[in-house]
Amino acid sequence: MKSAHLLAVALVAPLSAQDFSKMKTDQVFQQLCSGCHGQDLSGGQGGSLIDGEWKHGSSDEELMKSIKEGNEQLGMTPFKTVLDDRQIRSLVIFIREKEKQAKERGIEFPKPELGKVTKTQHEDYKIEMVVEKGLRTPWAIAFLPDGRKLVTEKQGRLRIIGADGKLVEEPVKGIPTIIDHGQGGLMEVAVHPDYEKNGWIYLGFADGTRDGGVKTITAYVRGRIKDGQWTDQEWIWKADQKFYSGVGVHFGTRLIFDKGYIYFPVGERGGWHEAQDVENAKGKIYRLHDDGRVPEDNPKFEGKTPVPGLWSYGHRNPQGLDIDPRDGSIYSTEHGPRGGDELNLIQPGHNYGWPVITYGMNYDGTPISGKTHEEGMDQPVIYWQPSIAACGLSFYRGDKFPKWKNDLFAGALAQQEIRRLRIVDKKVTEQEVILKNIGRVRDVTEAPDGYIYVLLNDPDRVIRLIPAE
Ligand code: HEC
Repeated sequence: MKSAHLLAVALVAPLSAQDFSKMKTDQVFQQLCSGCHGQDLSGGQGGSLIDGEWKHGSSDEELMKSIKEGNEQLGMTPFKTVLDDRQIRSLVIFIREKEKQAKERGIEFPKPELGKVTKTQHEDYKIEMVVEKGLRTPWAIAFLPDGRKLVTEKQGRLRIIGADGKLVEEPVKGIPTIIDHGQGGLMEVAVHPDYEKNGWIYLGFADGTRDGGVKTITAYVRGRIKDGQWTDQEWIWKADQKFYSGVGVHFGTRLIFDKGYIYFPVGERGGWHEAQDVENAKGKIYRLHDDGRVPEDNPKFEGKTPVPGLWSYGHRNPQGLDIDPRDGSIYSTEHGPRGGDELNLIQPGHNYGWPVITYGMNYDGTPISGKTHEEGMDQPVIYWQPSIAACGLSFYRGDKFPKWKNDLFAGALAQQEIRRLRIVDKKVTEQEVILKNIGRVRDVTEAPDGYIYVLLNDPDRVIRLIPAE
């Protein structure tokens, strides 16, 4: 017993002399934990942290407690005097990532091939190539009633796929100036539900200038296309100049229509706490009339003048947005920090917490916040740990896949997958990976023809899912 005590003292002294707050989580793990739990977390003197078995409870809170309080009798060091809550939280995310990777090594995900039937829980499908060559970084797709399709390319071109299925060589001429910078460029295209009467097409893109250094932020316009030319342009939403910035991240772009209104996000542009300020344009979801007017019954904030159109705030980088056709609820997927991608139910005036609360840590492995809950801030419906890099979100309203009716499809860039979520009473009751590893999924959306269209990057392609029968 005496020697064990001596060992503990010897261990603690050098620990407290080191500054772990400047260290990335994988380094912290290597320094403090790998000696007992193994470099690959598969166990040693301490048990495996990736076999899915937890002696002291499997929830995030219980893991945090194990790390904080330790168990000196059984040889697990308590770390509460060495690491703060944020660092311990980050270790939990790190362990979760490794746990999931280990689990997936044994699982086969549906990796579809052209012409081959892919079986899933409720529906079997085949994939069909829509555009194999000629597109560069396709970002979003929208459908015209005459069978043509519009596709944005990030670099700043709006392309048309003809009703005959052929990609038109010439991009649409005369669209607004796009700043292709970092994660921003030409992002969203959306067709007004009354297009046949009014011809309106909406674009979401990085607006700004390059003179004297890049200054840019997400903006939205609408216009019409006549003979391959963009015309009749009107500005729908544009931030005050003071919110334009040279940062290359988190543009957060989508646009949806509902009962004469439009909803769309503007990402926080790396501005973190700016998302919490209702007078700041960044990190918000907006609601406007479809012509850009601000509705009178948008949320009010006492003593504050919210940015025009503000509907909800505390967002990081929302890249998926859609409306549940059954009850009109609005859902958004938010590309979060590492381990903190979220599905949110968007409600007027609500605060979604970024960056005060989050389930994630920085991508380089440094911690963000030890806090996941806070009074007055909404919890996500679900969060993804490890991150999937959520992108593109669409309810299925069609009838080609009857057993998927009203399910929600979420694309994932980094994990290269499409997830099907079943939502019952605003809760996720099923989650299934229906497609994996055929490219980064930039957008997934149902189309008027009842098929599900998928935009892939690397390789840059448009495919669609059709029933196996
Ligand atoms: C000196 C050896 C040692 C070190 C260093 C150590 N652990 Fe442990 N750890 C153990 C042992 C032994 C157990 C099993 C204790 C038990 O059976 O209750 C354990 C248990 C755990 C558990 C609970 C497992 C369960 O099944 O519930 C977690 C989580 C954990 N350790 C994480 C960590 C992390 C993270 C670090 C680094 C910050 C770390 N450990 C450092 C030895 C160690």
